[in-house]
Amino acid sequence: MSFDRSIKIAPSILAADFANFGAECEAIEAQGADWVHVDVMDGHFVPNITFGPATCAAIRPHIKGVMDVHLMIAPVDSYIDAFAQAGADVITAHVEAGPHIHRTLQAIRGAGAKAGVALNPGTPAEAVSELIDSVDLICVMTVNPGFGGQKFIDMSAKIRKLRAMIGERPVHIEIDGGVDPSTAPIVATAGADVLVAGSAVFRGGSVQDPTPYGANIRAIRQAAEGTYV
Ligand code: DX5
Ligand code: ZN
Repeated sequence: MSFDRSIKIAPSILAADFANFGAECEAIEAQGADWVHVDVMDGHFVPNITFGPATCAAIRPHIKGVMDVHLMIAPVDSYIDAFAQAGADVITAHVEAGPHIHRTLQAIRGAGAKAGVALNPGTPAEAVSELIDSVDLICVMTVNPGFGGQKFIDMSAKIRKLRAMIGERPVHIEIDGGVDPSTAPIVATAGADVLVAGSAVFRGGSVQDPTPYGANIRAIRQAAEGTYV
């Protein structure tokens, strides 16, 4: 994975057809997705259950680009190797998932993946001030995690603080939750470069007719890049 700050669209397969993940991953990549965002939920850290390392391993061959795994689980450490072996390029753990986030991030990098840390809406930017050199990505939740299709919570002030804290370091700022063409400019202007979008990408399309996926991805990208007309 090379680093740059261009806008990247990462559709969340939480909004995809669960019975067809492989084909859905191929469809969104063919329609312009930069990364594929995979939401892992354990029914404990968040009030929902999705899938685990086995599903990640099953979809890996269907993803040419970046598999971006968002762990909404607690505890985290005992599962890191399984997700790394499943082919995750980025593994993101929540700072709220436990007291030893620094060790968790070291373990993610030690397993050969890029390390990400996620912050719930109620968690301040300062919570990662000691972690800036231990991460490759900071995920700012713009919804309370656990479900897709929720209303966007504006975290612009937090994004700006993080952007300033990062400086010239090769650290991505990822936004997750309620991203669409109307909210994408807000987060991009504040300094985000990776935009996760579930319902706004998969809306209106299917594996049989994926062209709406492409139109949705272009609309979000153009809105973020300020070229949406
Ligand atoms: C929520 C997940 C998000 C979610 C985004 O806990 O982390 O990735 O799938 O879905 P939308 O874009 O529909 O809010
Ligand atoms: Zn997510």
